[in-house]
Amino acid sequence: MTSEQQEILKVPEHIAIIMDGNGRWAKQRGLPRLAGHRAGTENIRKILIECVNLGVRYLTLYAFSTENWKRPRLEVNGLMNILSEFIDSQLRELHAEQVQLRHVGRIESLSSVLQHKIREAVSLTQDNTRLILTVALNYGGRADIVDAVRSIIAHGVPPEAINEQCLTEHLSTHPVPDPDLIIRTSGEWRLSNFLVWEAAYSEYWTTPTYWPDFGPDQLKQAIRDYGRRKRRFGGLSED
Ligand code: IPE
Ligand code: IPE
Ligand code: MG
Repeated sequence: MTSEQQEILKVPEHIAIIMDGNGRWAKQRGLPRLAGHRAGTENIRKILIECVNLGVRYLTLYAFSTENWKRPRLEVNGLMNILSEFIDSQLRELHAEQVQLRHVGRIESLSSVLQHKIREAVSLTQDNTRLILTVALNYGGRADIVDAVRSIIAHGVPPEAINEQCLTEHLSTHPVPDPDLIIRTSGEWRLSNFLVWEAAYSEYWTTPTYWPDFGPDQLKQAIRDYGRRKRRFGGLSED
């Protein structure tokens, strides 16, 4: 990218993506749904590299929700295997690119092999600071709030000390700041239980493109549109 192009992009500090549409992508091609999940997972690398190059500080990806267990067991198991292979094949490069990997969601329900891989990847990359990549895997915004409340009670926090800051600090996303821009592919206009607390003042952007086809040009389009938005956080616009 030229410096002129770089200049016009007001890059969000934190981008979160709901990577939706893998199934429809596969169906469109007469392929099994897992082929869509494979293509979708392969697409992560391209978008991640683009984010690194653009100087995005935080990228959060919604890979599997607490509600996705409702899907057929074959699809769930296949998807978990694909995500596990993604760690195997990409970890070295992520680390070389100075990317720090974080996980949010209920890790204890994942297979012990996957739990182990995630913990190893998190530990290997913990000192990297170029881009913080959070993978939401078995994540639900409501479950995360429930877990935060449990943690607050378990720590014996008195009721009068509970405020928004306190709850924020007990969420698994902490200390990553709230997302500035949430992108959802495949044309849906809903959060589907993603970052429900953190998204209070996020900007939204959606595209009919299915996730496996979402590329760097569309990412830049989303960032350009974001740059034109006026964020007010309940106050008054500067102009
Ligand atoms: C997103 O693609 C990946 C997950 C939710 C795990 P989908 O599998 O939801 O794809 P569609 O929405 O059925 O096309
Ligand atoms: C949201 O997509 C979850 C992920 C992308 C991981 P879904 O496909 O599960 O959402 P709904 O069911 O269309 O709301
Ligand atoms: Mg979907």
